[in-house]
Amino acid sequence: MRRKLAAGNWKMHGGAGDLAEIAALAAAHPSPVSEVLICPPATLISRMAEAAADTPVEVGGQDCHAETKGAHTGDVAAGMLAEAGARFVILGHSERRADHGESDADVHAKTRAAWDAGLTAVVCVGETLEEREAGRTLEIVGGQIDGSVPNGASPERLVVAYEPVWAIGTGKVPTLDQIGEVHGFIRAQLVDRFGAGAADGIRILYGGSVKPGNAAEIFGVADVDGALVGGASLKAADFGPIVTALDAAGA
Ligand code: PGA
Repeated sequence: MRRKLAAGNWKMHGGAGDLAEIAALAAAHPSPVSEVLICPPATLISRMAEAAADTPVEVGGQDCHAETKGAHTGDVAAGMLAEAGARFVILGHSERRADHGESDADVHAKTRAAWDAGLTAVVCVGETLEEREAGRTLEIVGGQIDGSVPNGASPERLVVAYEPVWAIGTGKVPTLDQIGEVHGFIRAQLVDRFGAGAADGIRILYGGSVKPGNAAEIFGVADVDGALVGGASLKAADFGPIVTALDAAGA
């Protein structure tokens, strides 16, 4: 059985004053059925890891460099994230693919670096609205997984997040059938590539406008093993009910 994962992506939000959200989340979920993860800005990772130390909340980064060290001003190596207390790192988020021109090859190299540092990579894929309307969703998602995920994936090393670009931060969500189609497709692709033994344990998250009001129905879709949540992960008052809904789906 795959343990469900509720992952929060704070993006470029949050400061020291928001660390209290971790205690609030942990108080509401002292022993969640699901695994719970928050990925704050890099500057907050070490303090969040301290704040989360005696709680079930895990901490992750939002990106890493492909190299272990070097002359790369402004970048952070996977080993640095791990040293700061991260156990996961989000890679290939559509905002990084768009804002920083990250290619599948870049994400592939970063994923290898994350694995070498002992981190679990949360590799993000998803189509634009134009691609969906052109009927190219599965081709795009399949190509991104092929190009972004290195050989050697396992449940400990890899989580896949399906995030339609047009659903992120927009309040628009695909139909449950559309989510199910893509998640089933991704599962089949993972089985083809890594074998049923590994692929059956790799979690596939849905991301894009997940809120307390729509979480339960999304978590009822086959092969949805949790969510990658942006806006609704910033406050325990929003993220807590999403964790509750995921716990109920996993129970
Ligand atoms: P959203 O973001 O929940 O605010 O739509 C999701 C994401 O980008 O991971």
